Amino acid sequence: MASSKNININLKVWRQKNAKTQGAMETYSLADVSTDSSFLEMLDQLNEQLIGEKKEPVAFDHDCREGICGMCSLFINGQAHGPEMGVTTCQLHMRKFKDGDTIYVEPFRSKAFPVIKDLMVDRSSFDRIQQAGGFVSVNTSGNTQDANNIPVPKHDADRAFEAAACIGCGACVATCKNGSAMLFVGAKVSQYALLPQGKIEAATRVQNMVRQMDEEGFGNCTNTGACEIECPKGISLENIARMNREYLKATLE
Ligand code: SF4
Ligand code: FES
Repeated sequence: MASSKNININLKVWRQKNAKTQGAMETYSLADVSTDSSFLEMLDQLNEQLIGEKKEPVAFDHDCREGICGMCSLFINGQAHGPEMGVTTCQLHMRKFKDGDTIYVEPFRSKAFPVIKDLMVDRSSFDRIQQAGGFVSVNTSGNTQDANNIPVPKHDADRAFEAAACIGCGACVATCKNGSAMLFVGAKVSQYALLPQGKIEAATRVQNMVRQMDEEGFGNCTNTGACEIECPKGISLENIARMNREYLKATLE
C-alpha cells in the first residue's frame, strides 16, 4: 500500500437547493487531505472548511460508512461510487487521487431519484418497490415450520445469497442510460424466488414489484450491462434474466 501523505485537491461539487431549483457546479480548493482518509472524510473536511468560512456545508448521504447500508451515493468523475470497482463511496480512499487533481462530485441522477439537496437524492422509490413484494409472509399461528428444516440445494442457496448482497444503493439505476432499476429488482426477486420459503408468493411478488417499478418511472433494460459493472456488490445480470423468467411464468399461470 502506498504510504500516507497529504495532497491538495480541487473539487467541482454539484450544489442544488432542492428538486425545484436549478443546480450548478461550485469550485472549492482543499489543502492537506490525507491519502488515508476516505472520500466521505474528505467531504467532512470540506464541510469543516465551509462552516469555518460561514458558508453552507454540502449535503450528502451516508450512514454505516462500512459498505453495507447503501446510503452513500455519489458520481465521482463520472462514475458511480468513483474510480474503484466493487466498492461504495464510503470505501473509496483518497489514495486513489493525486496531488493537484480536480475531482467532479455529482448526485446519482435519475428521473426516479429526485434531488433533495446538493448530493442527496430521494431513493424512496426503492423502498416502495420492496414494500410491494420484497418479503416473505409468515403464518405465525404456532404451526410454523422452522426455516432451517427445509432443505435448500447448495447451488440455489449460493445464488440466493449472492442476490441478497444487493444493498439498494442505486448505482445500477444512476449508471444505466435508461434509468432502469432491473438489476435491483432482479436481485430482490431472485433472492426469494430461489428459496423454498419464497416460492409460495413468487407469482404475485414479481408482478407487484415490476408494476411498482414501472409506476415509479424507471426505464427499461436494454441489456447494456453498465449496471453490473458499476454495482459495488457484483450483482450479476443473471438476476435480470431470472426476473424476466419469473415474470413470464407468473403471467402465464
Ligand atoms: S444491484 Fe448493485 S448497484 Fe443496484 S442497488 Fe443493488 S447493490 Fe446497488
Ligand atoms: S455509508 Fe453505508 S454503504 Fe456507504
